[in-house]
Amino acid sequence: MNSEQSEGPVKVLRAEHQVILRVVRVLGKLMDRFEQAGEFAEAPLAKCVEFLRLFADACHHGKEEDLLFPVLESRGIPRDGGPIGVMLYEHQIGRGLTKDMAGALTAARTGDATARTRFLQAARHYIDLLTNHIFKEDNVLFDMGDRMMNPDDQRTLTNQFCAVNCGAFEGRRREELQQIADELEAECGHG
Ligand SMILES: [Fe+2]
Ligand SMILES: [Fe+2]
Repeated sequence: MNSEQSEGPVKVLRAEHQVILRVVRVLGKLMDRFEQAGEFAEAPLAKCVEFLRLFADACHHGKEEDLLFPVLESRGIPRDGGPIGVMLYEHQIGRGLTKDMAGALTAARTGDATARTRFLQAARHYIDLLTNHIFKEDNVLFDMGDRMMNPDDQRTLTNQFCAVNCGAFEGRRREELQQIADELEAECGHG
């Protein structure tokens, strides 16, 4: 791998995966506590959902869907019936589960007795989905994509990623969203 690739778009996405996995692990730990001790920690759970919605979905999946995947497709990686189609489908499922978690959290606050269990089911499904999704991107699609993109593709994507990452996600900066992972680990312990 040359230095250009080592600082390229795939490296940015791989680093974001590590931040997402830290929050996924905290979410798993909070769900263990709920199942084992009945403790439903609303405030940190709301932070997890906010992070997953704005960082994992808007910022990270947004860059993959709008910028990386179209380039990979143009370099010959199939979309329909291929790895890109699978990744897009999983993003959609993840989006739905994030909405389910947000809805269950709101319902739980208004005293809906079944809402906590609905949150648990959506969270467990999300944890499983995202863990496997990230594994597939890190170990299959990104390796393949990094080899197939030419230096121009790499440079263009790097610049486009910088532009997205300098923007805001519902008024929250990327750095601010990344800090949520630190805060959650400090509040809840590492996963
Ligand atoms: Fe993805
Ligand atoms: Fe990803």
